[in-house]
Amino acid sequence: MDVPPIVLDRAGGEPLAAQLAAALRGAAAGGALRAGDRLPSTRALAATLGLSRTVTSAAYEQLLAEGWVEGRVGAGTYVTTAPPASPAPAPARAAAGGSAGGLVMMRAGVPCTEVLDRGAWRRAWRAAADPAPDAEPRPEGLPEFRAAVVEHLLRHRGLPAAPEDVLATGGSTGAIAEIARTLPAGSAVAVEDPGYQRAVGGLRAAGLRVVPVPVDEAGLVVEALPAGLAAVYCTPAHQFPLGGRLPAARRVALVERARADGFVVLEDDYDGELRYDVAPLPLLAALGPDIVAHLGTASKILTPTLGAGWLVAPRALREAVARQRDRTGTRPAPAGQRVFTAFAASGDLARHLRRVRRELAGRRAEVVEALAGIAVRGDEAGAHVVIGLPDVTAERTVLDAAEAAGIALDGLQRHLVTPAPGPAASTAGIVLGYAGSTRAELRAALPAVATILRAALSDAPDAR
Ligand SMILES: Cc1ncc(COP(=O)(O)O)c(C=O)c1O
Repeated sequence: MDVPPIVLDRAGGEPLAAQLAAALRGAAAGGALRAGDRLPSTRALAATLGLSRTVTSAAYEQLLAEGWVEGRVGAGTYVTTAPPASPAPAPARAAAGGSAGGLVMMRAGVPCTEVLDRGAWRRAWRAAADPAPDAEPRPEGLPEFRAAVVEHLLRHRGLPAAPEDVLATGGSTGAIAEIARTLPAGSAVAVEDPGYQRAVGGLRAAGLRVVPVPVDEAGLVVEALPAGLAAVYCTPAHQFPLGGRLPAARRVALVERARADGFVVLEDDYDGELRYDVAPLPLLAALGPDIVAHLGTASKILTPTLGAGWLVAPRALREAVARQRDRTGTRPAPAGQRVFTAFAASGDLARHLRRVRRELAGRRAEVVEALAGIAVRGDEAGAHVVIGLPDVTAERTVLDAAEAAGIALDGLQRHLVTPAPGPAASTAGIVLGYAGSTRAELRAALPAVATILRAALSDAPDAR
C-alpha cells in the first residue's frame, strides 16, 4: 500500500522514532491507514524516508506496544482490526425507497426500486463485467446497447428504429443539453409551462431563448406555439408535471407544424413505459421521424444511477451531436449501457417492466382511493399525480403540513417557467409521486396526505 505522506522535523528536539510513531498513529486515526493495511517493512520505510532502520524499528515497536499495529511473524506488520480511537464505519443503509432527509419520499421523478429483483440485478452487473475492458471509447454508444434499445423501443414503445438511428446518452436531461448546444445561440425554443426545469436550465445554459407555452389537462397547447421557433421541448406521454397525455390529433398537428415551420421537436419520453388502463398513443418520433428527436431513459424504469439513456433522431441532428462529442471529448459512460443490455438480453427487463407497472398501478389505485372526493389529475400514466389547490398560499400550507408529518411532497410553483400569477389556469397544486417510497411507507402516509389536502380544499370549496 502507499505510505501516507510523513513529514519529520529533523532539526527539532523530538526523537525521530517518536515523530514517526506519531505520524503513523495520526494516519490510522484519520483513516489514511485502515485496519488490515500492511505497513512497509522497517527496512523499506527507512529507505523511503532516509532514516536509519533503528528509527523505523523503534517506531513500530512503540505502535505494537500501544496496540495500533500487530506483527505477524514472517508476514509483516499490519494495522490492527480495531486501532484505538479509530472511527467506527458508518452502517450501510439498505433502503428500498428514495430518501428525502428522513421524510417519506412522495415527490415525482424517483423510480420504484422496491420491486427490482435483486438477483436479476446482480446477474446483469456480473454479465456486464464479462467482456474485456474496451481500450477505445465509443462516443455513439456500445453497438450491443444500441441494438438493445432498438428492441426495447419496438417492444415497449412501438417505435421502429435501426441501431444506427440510436445514440447512447447519459440520460435525457444531459441529452437535452447536448441537443441545445447544436442549435444556433439565441434561437427560440418553446417549452411547456409548467414544465421540466432541468430542460429549461439546459436550454438556457446553451444560450437559447426559452419561450413558455401553456399546458392544459391534455398537455401542450399546440395552437399556442408562436412562429420563429428552432425547437419545441415537450413530454407528450405524461406531461411533466401536470400529467396530461397529448391526444393523437395534437400530436399530428405538432408534427405538421414542425414540418411547415422547420423546427425540431424534442420528445422527452421520460416515463413512457408506465401507462394504466389506456391505449397507447403513437410516439411523435413514429409520426415524424424526420423532425423529432426522441429521448428515452432508464432512469424511471430502473434507476438514474445507471446513467443510461438513448436518443433517436434524424441523421443531421445525430451527426451534429456526434461532432460536438468529438470536439469536446464527451461521451456517455459504457458501464450503465452494459448493465442495461445484459438486463434486457436476459428477459429481466421485460419481466421488471410488467412488475413495475403492476406495482405502480396498485399504488396509483391506493392513492386515488385515499384521496376519494378530491380531483386527481394525470393518473393515466407515469408515477405521479397532481392535485389542484386554490392558490399559492394553500400550496405552501400543504407542503409545510406534510413536512411536519414526515412526508416530502412537491408543489407546482417550482415547475413554473413563468412565475405565478401563472400563464394558464390552475397553477397552484401538489405533485404527488407514488414510486419513490416503499409501498408500506406510502400506505401509512396516505391518510395524513388526504387529511392535509381536504383541510386545504375545504377553505375554498369551489377549488379544483
Ligand atoms: C420530465 C423529465 N425528463 C427527464 C428526467 C430525467 O431523466 P434522466 O435521469 O435520464 O436525465 C426527469 C426526471 O425527473 C423528468 O422529470
